[in-house]
Amino acid sequence: MLGPEQPAEVSQPAVDRMVADALAAFAAAGSSAELKAARLAHTGEKSPLALANRAIGTLPGTERKEAGQRLGLARAAVQQRLADREGELSAAELAEQLVAERIDVTLPVEIAPQGAPHPITALIDLMGDVFIAMGWEIAEGPQAEGEWLNFDALNLGPDHPARGTSDTLFVAPIDHHMVLRTHTSPVQVRTMLDREPPIYVVCPGKVYRADEFDATHVPVFHQIEGLCIDKGISLAHLKGTLDHLAKAMFGDDIETRMRPHYFPFTEPSAEVDLQCFVCHGASVGNPDAPCRTCKSQGWIEWGGCGVVNPRVLLSCGIDPEVYSGFAFGMGIERTLMFRNNAADMRDMVEGDVRFSRSLKGMAR
Ligand code: DAH
Repeated sequence: MLGPEQPAEVSQPAVDRMVADALAAFAAAGSSAELKAARLAHTGEKSPLALANRAIGTLPGTERKEAGQRLGLARAAVQQRLADREGELSAAELAEQLVAERIDVTLPVEIAPQGAPHPITALIDLMGDVFIAMGWEIAEGPQAEGEWLNFDALNLGPDHPARGTSDTLFVAPIDHHMVLRTHTSPVQVRTMLDREPPIYVVCPGKVYRADEFDATHVPVFHQIEGLCIDKGISLAHLKGTLDHLAKAMFGDDIETRMRPHYFPFTEPSAEVDLQCFVCHGASVGNPDAPCRTCKSQGWIEWGGCGVVNPRVLLSCGIDPEVYSGFAFGMGIERTLMFRNNAADMRDMVEGDVRFSRSLKGMAR
């Protein structure tokens, strides 16, 4: 009810003024939010028009009808104008929003970003394919390997320095004689124990060494091992096979050489070198044009190889009087470094998809 301290004016001029004030406020509102404030002020419960309306009841009976009609008309006019203004403002705001949020449907859509096979995986597949095309098979073995298979069966005796805990990662407890394989060569042994010659297999996979993590060493890396056991196999077959692989990896002009070396599981043994892909030998004996890649040697080491030691054949139950064979093993990361100029091995393990994408398609 209207309090005595707030007498409402219900006269025509007073009501006209209330209406005029309300219409002016609606016209001045520039947004829906401002119009809402004006609506509350001029049509809300405490607005002059509402107060005046409530005051009708306090008027003498004779004046009530007229005042009621006056206020009814006035409030209807105000409501009408309010509705119109609401319509105008919301139409204007919608138009503005449509402009602001306009999208160009002719722009190319954003395609979900695509990854790429990891370059190590791609290279393993590529190297495997070279051998599959020659009728070889892929063999695999476990990464946690028996110490006997990783070392003894390969003629690496108990005192061999590689068997120490500073080079090899042992699986606890140590008296279970399990290691994380330090090379893929135990897969040779597994294959020879498993099947009869002729054997033509390549064995790619992860290997582990207690190495630092830097640009040229990672403690987990990959090798590919090759093993051929048949009648009448000689070093010449080994050389031909390695040359074929080198050409498939680095192109037809690549030169390889075998440099005598020692491995307990092959006899004779060699390291296989690639002609330096940077200086192509031009830095040798040429102090004016030194080569950092091959240290001016003209050659870079790629892997190890040799004729399978008869002692290894014997420990795998193959008669060395009947069969002979060759084996080789090289690092996949090293191959990737030479082949694709990937200078830092850490890129190969950090998993940044940009590295994979930068070498996407390299395998074909
Ligand atoms: N297993 C050797 C290594 O990890 C590489 C190797 C050398 C493998 C000579 C062979 C081989 O099969 O005949 O360094």
